[in-house]
Amino acid sequence: MPQKKISLSGVQSSGTLHIGNYLGMIQPAMARQTEYSCIYFIADLHSLTSLRDAKARRENSLDLVAAFLACDFDVDKHIFYRQSDVPMVTELTWYLSCVTGLGLLEKAHKFKDFTAKGEEINHGLFSYPVLMAADILMYDADVVPVGKDQKQHVEMARDIAGSFNAIYGEGLLKMPEVAIEERVMVIPGLDGRKMSKSYGNIVPLFAESKELRKTVMSIKTDSTPLEDPKVLEGTLVGQLFSLFSTQAEYRDLEKRLQAGGLGWGHAKEELFQAIEREISPVRSKYNELRANENLLHQTLRAGAERARSVSLPVLTRVREAVGVGTPKSLLS
Ligand code: ADP
Ligand code: TRP
Repeated sequence: MPQKKISLSGVQSSGTLHIGNYLGMIQPAMARQTEYSCIYFIADLHSLTSLRDAKARRENSLDLVAAFLACDFDVDKHIFYRQSDVPMVTELTWYLSCVTGLGLLEKAHKFKDFTAKGEEINHGLFSYPVLMAADILMYDADVVPVGKDQKQHVEMARDIAGSFNAIYGEGLLKMPEVAIEERVMVIPGLDGRKMSKSYGNIVPLFAESKELRKTVMSIKTDSTPLEDPKVLEGTLVGQLFSLFSTQAEYRDLEKRLQAGGLGWGHAKEELFQAIEREISPVRSKYNELRANENLLHQTLRAGAERARSVSLPVLTRVREAVGVGTPKSLLS
């Protein structure tokens, strides 16, 4: 039987998961479970570039294990691990660093944003794309399902693999493809910008019903009087509603708003109900799993072992190619 292609992706353990992560990455990644061999992980080393709270990092990592399990990721058939449990990745990062030009890293959107704002930048943030390239190239990944904000990083991984292969041997590292679903590539946050932990504009994925409702009701809308006709299309409420409703439900709400007599408060209530309908079964599973820390730690331990055993042959191939470590011919 031909081997399945590898789908690989990661999420930083830097804060609370939000519906942008869920729709933009988790759902598309989960949908690949039948067709692909999936390798998904918690990018806790990446979170060090922005989060300096060790306890929060640990807690966030456990949150992510529970979230992936609650979203039905089959950790027995596929691989789920925490990045820091696989030291092979940091070793590969060094080999890749030595073929990565500063010019490439200076083009990174995040680096440019920070520089433009005059914010202090640490070396980890600057070399973030090299660690991410190692994450991807370590497992011979074929596709990387992510939201649009990560596209440039995957392209950089391809550039880095190209430089490495040109120097040490064609075909040594596999060229990954980025997979972005157009419908969910940029989920807007409460202020209309991309939803992101760092913008404080999120709808938390597993907020309890009451908090979720409060968050949705806080979306700013225009002050068209209740009785006037309103246009749903192009508004933040409309954008979010379209992601959680059927087309018929969307058209129905659109028609009722257009007719006048329905306020934005009602529309937001319907948006809340639509999100709640989809998320509440996942949230119940999540809460149950999150309370079972033994299971979460055990899942991480098993995943780490499997990730290490898949990465070691690739690392051995790379060590051999760059001329470090004991030559293969002397390994018994
Ligand atoms: P954040 O920007 O909140 O820190 P992460 O960088 O941890 O989120 O992103 C984890 C995954 O979720 C990535 O694949 C990213 O592309 C995706 N993602 C994050 N925010 C959004 C969004 N607003 N719309 C679509 N995908 C998103
Ligand atoms: N940089 C990604 C983010 O912020 C997380 C990540 C780290 C990742 N390594 C990866 C995503 C490898 C895909 C593949 O969301």
